Amino acid sequence: MTAHATTATPLRIGPHTVWPPVVLAPMAGITNAPFRTLCREFSGGKGQQAPVAEPRRRAPRHRGLFVSEMITTRALVERNEKTMHLIHFDGTEKPRSIQLYGVDPVTVGKAVRMIVDEDLADHIDLNFGCPVPKVTRKGGGSALPYKRNLLRSILREAVGNAGELPVTIKMRKGIDDDHLTYLDAGRIAVEEGVTAVALHGRTAAQHYGGTADWDAIARLKEHVPEIPVLGNGDIWCADDAVRMMRATGCDGVVVGRGCLGRPWLFADLVAAFDDGGGGQARPTFKEVAGVMLRHAGLLGEWLDDEARGVIDFRKHVPWYTKGFSVGSEARRNLAMASSLAELDDHLSGLDLDQEWPERAEGPRGRTAAGKRVVLPDGWLKDPYDCAAVSADAELDTSGG
Ligand SMILES: Cc1cc2nc3c(=O)[nH]c(=O)nc-3n(C[C@H](O)[C@H](O)[C@H](O)COP(=O)(O)O)c2cc1C
Repeated sequence: MTAHATTATPLRIGPHTVWPPVVLAPMAGITNAPFRTLCREFSGGKGQQAPVAEPRRRAPRHRGLFVSEMITTRALVERNEKTMHLIHFDGTEKPRSIQLYGVDPVTVGKAVRMIVDEDLADHIDLNFGCPVPKVTRKGGGSALPYKRNLLRSILREAVGNAGELPVTIKMRKGIDDDHLTYLDAGRIAVEEGVTAVALHGRTAAQHYGGTADWDAIARLKEHVPEIPVLGNGDIWCADDAVRMMRATGCDGVVVGRGCLGRPWLFADLVAAFDDGGGGQARPTFKEVAGVMLRHAGLLGEWLDDEARGVIDFRKHVPWYTKGFSVGSEARRNLAMASSLAELDDHLSGLDLDQEWPERAEGPRGRTAAGKRVVLPDGWLKDPYDCAAVSADAELDTSGG
């Protein structure tokens, strides 16, 4: 795999200039401060750890944009303790990007106002992509943009309360192929002063199945030439990012599952955009083990509890070890560790000299195919009625 130079230009999100034009996708339970730190290090945005070539262009610029996991607006305005911890940024994170999810315009407005007044972030992204039945059943998540007026009200409140902060949105194509919403949502976003739109090229009905429809990203770009369009879906390596930008004309890419257990993908992305072919990082298992320990350690510091950090890290083990020869028992041991020393011990017992395996390439993370989208009764009857969504559509926090 070789990445190629692009004619891409820096991505502008309001006052923030981002190069390369790459965004870490918000992922609930994943893109907390420790994971963002790792990704930023590999992108060369922090510390010296990233094996990244010096950029050819002189850049003012932020080395990518690393968005928080989703924060529900109601929990934020209620100052829920866990939520207040989730919005924590490492002191060196700049710009600080928070993703919000809310279904009630007034609450969204209050949450945005709180972020501005208390200087909690530099950029706000709004999530309209969640396909989870518990959420769509109430009209939330990816069901919400179907109600155009409700979407408009939410965006109006968000932008109206954001002051100088740029507000962006992230969405799916629609509910299903017969109920696409992304073009209307893009137009509404422009009309309401949203700074940029990101499109995951799947419908809610698809969940994570099939392949992302990059043509839809191209259509959105044509439809809303006034603002940057970010493409999202199925970027598994740096070359995919370059291909998506070429194929769709989008202004930037959003990378999700491809960096699960592989934060060094950000080094590849920087190399691909900076000098068109830094190749691909192929860490040995020893190097991967080092990143695993660092990730678990950062989680422990963030949670102020080493054991909780290592336990939270367990979900990452299958992604980091994907493709390597790690027997099922060893894999289980790794996923049962509850201290850094134990994790280190289990890792040291493995063949650390293993080369990066081809089997580690390609899709990783959620791939479950679509199910029927569960909606409130009569939801599809009138896209323009004055729908309201009950607040418990914010209860699920599993994301997009
Ligand atoms: C574990 C997980 C959690 C996610 N959480 C969120 C979220 O909180 N907010 C959001 O907008 N999307 C969320 N998503 C969707 C991703 O941001 C992204 O749109 C999707 O994974 C498609 O991009 P990819 O093909 O690069 O993974 C989540 C996805 C995964 C796999």
